[in-house]
Amino acid sequence: MPDLIVCPSPGEIFQKAAALFSEAVGRAGDRFTVALAGGSTPRGMYELLAADMYRDRIDWQKVHIFFGDERCVTPESDYSNYRMANASLLMNVSIPKRQIHRIRGEAPPNIAAAEYEGTLLRIFGETDDRPFPRFDLILLGMGPDGHTASLFPGTAALNETKRWVVSTHVDKFAGTPTPADRVTLTYPVLNAAAHVLFMVAGADKAAALREVLHGAPNADLYPSQGVRPTNGRLTWLVDAAIPGL
Ligand code: 6PG
Repeated sequence: MPDLIVCPSPGEIFQKAAALFSEAVGRAGDRFTVALAGGSTPRGMYELLAADMYRDRIDWQKVHIFFGDERCVTPESDYSNYRMANASLLMNVSIPKRQIHRIRGEAPPNIAAAEYEGTLLRIFGETDDRPFPRFDLILLGMGPDGHTASLFPGTAALNETKRWVVSTHVDKFAGTPTPADRVTLTYPVLNAAAHVLFMVAGADKAAALREVLHGAPNADLYPSQGVRPTNGRLTWLVDAAIPGL
């Protein structure tokens, strides 16, 4: 069963998430692997990790940073998930640059996905009895349509059972400023994690969140529902502004 923690404000979500991150790094051995979430919600948590309370308390030398997904844009773009994480957190803490593993959003999507899978393979290795990497922590957000990472409703990426990273195209964003081409970790990777932490703020997500948490199984329509770690924890930090949970 997931842990559902309703927080009185987004600020409380950031506090809880930052505390959890810091404790998890403290408990880890020589290496702590985390996949960051994109979108806008996690920014407050990232800023907190880079502020006085945590910056010098976390052993950044053992942290390896990855990304759950990336929009296919340059790392300087306002739409880049890497850019947001770098500006709010990575450039402000003493994490070795070689331990920051970004997805090359500027490359053709299928090439960026294959390269990133190669990066994960190199760092996690692969064995017969553990065919997917086991992240210590994966941070995720959820969109008002129930998508998470870049696993969008009705897309082929949802059916991936073997690849670790895939490219995807979100038709509804074609012709809009929001990047339609994405690279994303797949369900098997999300579900192999030791801990998955969702951060969800904003009343516009109420309907989807109710379906994800309490509705009939339908991950094709509400992809966040498909995130269920097989041998790990699942925590939802949710804004109290979202009614009816
Ligand atoms: C992305 C994401 C995506 C995001 C949700 C929530 O690259 O768009 O990783 O899954 O987490 O869309 O985004 P907000 O936090 O901005 O609502």
